Amino acid sequence: MEHKIKRIGVLTSGGDAPGMNAVVRAVVRTAMSRGVECIGIRRGYNGLIKGDFIRMDAGTVSHIIEKGGTVLYTARSEEFKTEEGQKKAVDTCRLLGLDGVIAIGGDGTFRGALALSRHGIPVVGIPATIDNDIGCSQYTIGFDTACNTAVYAIDMLRDTMQSHERCSVVEVMGRQAGYLALYVGIATGATAVLIPERSVDVERDVVEKIRQARLAGRTHFMVVVAEGAGSAMDISAKIHEATGLDPRVTVLGHIQRGGSPTSRDRETGTRMGYEAVQALMSGNGNCVIATKDGKIVNIDIEEALAMTKEFPMDRYDVLEAVTTNG
Ligand code: F6P
Repeated sequence: MEHKIKRIGVLTSGGDAPGMNAVVRAVVRTAMSRGVECIGIRRGYNGLIKGDFIRMDAGTVSHIIEKGGTVLYTARSEEFKTEEGQKKAVDTCRLLGLDGVIAIGGDGTFRGALALSRHGIPVVGIPATIDNDIGCSQYTIGFDTACNTAVYAIDMLRDTMQSHERCSVVEVMGRQAGYLALYVGIATGATAVLIPERSVDVERDVVEKIRQARLAGRTHFMVVVAEGAGSAMDISAKIHEATGLDPRVTVLGHIQRGGSPTSRDRETGTRMGYEAVQALMSGNGNCVIATKDGKIVNIDIEEALAMTKEFPMDRYDVLEAVTTNG
């Protein structure tokens, strides 16, 4: 049954992720197609606190599906973590007449969404982070693009490493999760990958693998380190000490957050944006839109925040099987 809704807000919060714009576009266009007005809240929850907004229409979201970053800007709001900040945000929602808010971002964004919903504002969360570290959703918007960006960068590094017969140590993002490192390591044929989900033993996981690769005839080596598993500089120093090699270190950093989103991030983001509006329209605020086995599902926000997902360690076995022979 459709719930009477006149006007909704949409915001992006936390670290930006490629594909956020596809979600914003889908939210605005779906809302408009249902006769619902859509207000873009700028700079994350800070925008709700300060009343920083923009009226959205079909034109404001034209040609943003292919753009990285977020046209609504983003922020990590410290003020919104306080009761006072949350009250100001609620006041803005009331003043603007928002019947619901769609919040796009990571775990921090969902905690903010829960706070807002406890103050009586219906909120729907959409998972978007390059880290893929959200327990309730198998996939988060931006992950595929970030993987492809890192793969592109590492392929380029490999050209020069191969020419000079060197060792490369590349640090990728991911916060406390190793999804990016593991997927990218498999896709680039890395010699070794370090992830936080597995205890790190540099001798066993890196030095021995470099030795095996050398014995198999390789003269250049690619080591991928998740930022949550250690620093590329430290790992490089340990490789040097153990093998005498002189590795080159690259920290890919924020490059991984930018760029035009892949078709997966555009398509999944569009479906999630659509479902979020549908959820608000059917009176189902206070939920998170997630993916499960390729399908879009919606989960109660409190439940979603308590969920954990199993890290795909079987992929580490795949990596080992295809690299140990060098
Ligand atoms: O959560 C996304 C992410 O890019 C992490 O991978 C990284 O640890 C962090 O954000 C970096 O945050 P900031 O942009 O504040 O430096």
